[in-house]
Amino acid sequence: MDQRPIAVFDSGLGGLTVVRSLRERLPAEDIVYFGDTARVPYGTKTPDTVMRFSREISAFLMRMNPKCIVAACNTASAVCLPRLGEDVPVPMVGVVTPGAASAVETTRPGDLVAVIGTEATIASNAYRNAIHAIDSTRSVVQVACPLFVPIVEEGVYASDPIVRMAVDRYLAPLRRLKPTAVLLGCTHYPMIRTAIAEYLGASVALIDSGDATADEVGDTLRRSGALSDLASAGSLHCYVSDHPRRFQTVGSHFLGSSIPDVVRVCSEELARGADALSSRPRASA
Ligand code: DGL
Repeated sequence: MDQRPIAVFDSGLGGLTVVRSLRERLPAEDIVYFGDTARVPYGTKTPDTVMRFSREISAFLMRMNPKCIVAACNTASAVCLPRLGEDVPVPMVGVVTPGAASAVETTRPGDLVAVIGTEATIASNAYRNAIHAIDSTRSVVQVACPLFVPIVEEGVYASDPIVRMAVDRYLAPLRRLKPTAVLLGCTHYPMIRTAIAEYLGASVALIDSGDATADEVGDTLRRSGALSDLASAGSLHCYVSDHPRRFQTVGSHFLGSSIPDVVRVCSEELARGADALSSRPRASA
């Protein structure tokens, strides 16, 4: 049994959808969250920049003595893993591999799987490669949906006409192609899941990579005997690089409950600590 926290990071507040899934499945676990609200979005940045930011955040989170780090950000997972995981001395779980595995489980040989995500995630081909590494018989089509993130960040969700317009703008080709499953390859997309489901129709399965990741974290900790055995509910401590108040307000919709305390850590402090992350022998969870 291991009472150390699970550390989770994201480019901003979207990763709280993954925290929500984690808390549903592993309610006794303490969670430390870092949202890079000063530098969001990652989805429009280059792989080098996303790697540098993710490295800085991982070094910061290591100061919290976590038992594992979850890269809740699809863009960071797609661009930085597995390389970043090799420099972090605790297990690092990203969202791409669990999401891809869930897509394969939900479909059959020859089926079409659609992956939607940020520009950087789609350009990386990480989801397509991960699906084909498990099973090469699935056909994969990928669509970047850049406007979904800013719309959701504005707190505009399913029933708003602007959501329906954006969904139509990006997903019209998928409505024609009729994939068996659509993988929601971005932290923000579960927030407009209803609009996507209504647009594509009930026959299309929507896969939330955050849910699949939370299952994977639970399995990883269970296998290594590292689950918390506390009877009480786990805590949540949040750190952001800017605007804690906004994170609390908008983030509560992502989390599905209020966010207790949020501490600001400036980007300069993050950058200073990045060198602390050096290649070391891995400890098991
Ligand atoms: N968290 C990002 C992701 O899941 C979306 C927001 C961004 O572009 O940073 O890809």
